[in-house]
Amino acid sequence: MRKPIIALAFIATIAFAAKAQDKPITTTPPMGWMSWFPFIDKINEKKIMEVADAMVKSGLRDAGYKLLQLDDGWMAATRDKEGRQYADTSRFPHGMKYLADYLHARGLKIGIYSSNGTQTCAGYPGSYNHEELDAKTYAAWGIDYLKYDACGEKENHTDRELHTRMSKALRAIGRPIMFEICIFSSGDTHLWGAEIADMWRTGGDIVKFIERTPEVTYKNWYENLGQVVGKENYAGNGHWNDPDNLIVDYPRNNKQTYEEQKAQFSLWSVVSAPLILGNDVRNMFDATKQILLNKEIIAVDQDKATKPGSRVISDDQKEVWVKQLNDGSKAVVIFNKQDTEATLSLNFKDINVAKKAKIRDLWSHSDKGTFTDTYSAKIAPHGVNMIKLIAAK
Ligand code: GLA
Repeated sequence: MRKPIIALAFIATIAFAAKAQDKPITTTPPMGWMSWFPFIDKINEKKIMEVADAMVKSGLRDAGYKLLQLDDGWMAATRDKEGRQYADTSRFPHGMKYLADYLHARGLKIGIYSSNGTQTCAGYPGSYNHEELDAKTYAAWGIDYLKYDACGEKENHTDRELHTRMSKALRAIGRPIMFEICIFSSGDTHLWGAEIADMWRTGGDIVKFIERTPEVTYKNWYENLGQVVGKENYAGNGHWNDPDNLIVDYPRNNKQTYEEQKAQFSLWSVVSAPLILGNDVRNMFDATKQILLNKEIIAVDQDKATKPGSRVISDDQKEVWVKQLNDGSKAVVIFNKQDTEATLSLNFKDINVAKKAKIRDLWSHSDKGTFTDTYSAKIAPHGVNMIKLIAAK
């Protein structure tokens, strides 16, 4: 008589487990830090632990930046005797589980990187034909996130096929591990990304050839922003377009003005991009912290409606981006495209507001009052005005 009950309980458990795994790990865009831009592949245990401590001390963790992603370069140059990837022992003397435990004890999550071909982009062993073993290895270490690139040899397989293989392997291991698709040469990942992943890159690296320290300007992020235009309907509710990291406080040859860096942060939030920091958080100016810890703008990125914003105006002078928020208000970013300061106007009819609106400025943290038909602001070259706007009677 007990057998059917056990069998039923067993089936129920399987069904519940499957359901739990299908559920996205976070329904709002992930927030965190990634090692590639600050350190390239020169990463080690000491640096990552210092970054973890800095994330806590600076208030970044408590503001929501919880994921620490170790990008390319964490691995040893070859696999071990059992065919497993493992952390380079000179740079990570205690291994990856130790680091995962260190981060988890501080309320952080740990991310890792691999590629769908035989080698990663920096030449370390990729996961091609090792997907199940690698997924199991990551789970045993306590990994929470995998960024999966498209470098290396892969015979005749397509990237979509191989990314799907790894996604299945991750889903089969019973530990929720977020999955990011990084195929920078492909323009169509957004069409199928949500079927297998939590987020997907929408274009190339925001800073290319970082080893050769090119000059970094607002054009770096402006190009990547352009790659999310028209893709907003493919994202939302646990699945995200990723125009690549924030380059606020980018550590090498950064020629951006302060206003341009505020602009990237505003625009990334309005398009619901993952907010992944690309700076050395161990050494931050207060001014940088003021950008990255702007709670009102983070709240726009993390809004519960999980609806990415879109570009509604693009003319010679400006772009206007709008995001519908859960409380019925709209977040609006007016971006000054010009090389000179300009007073730019927002016409309410362009953003479906009938006549009057109450406006709050999200950078000065001040209520501006009630406006009729239009709102104007003086905006720095390549800078933004970011407001929250609620229709009024
Ligand atoms: C590619 C990715 C980058 C980074 C490097 C690492 O270029 O797009 O984000 O992960 O590989 O080699």
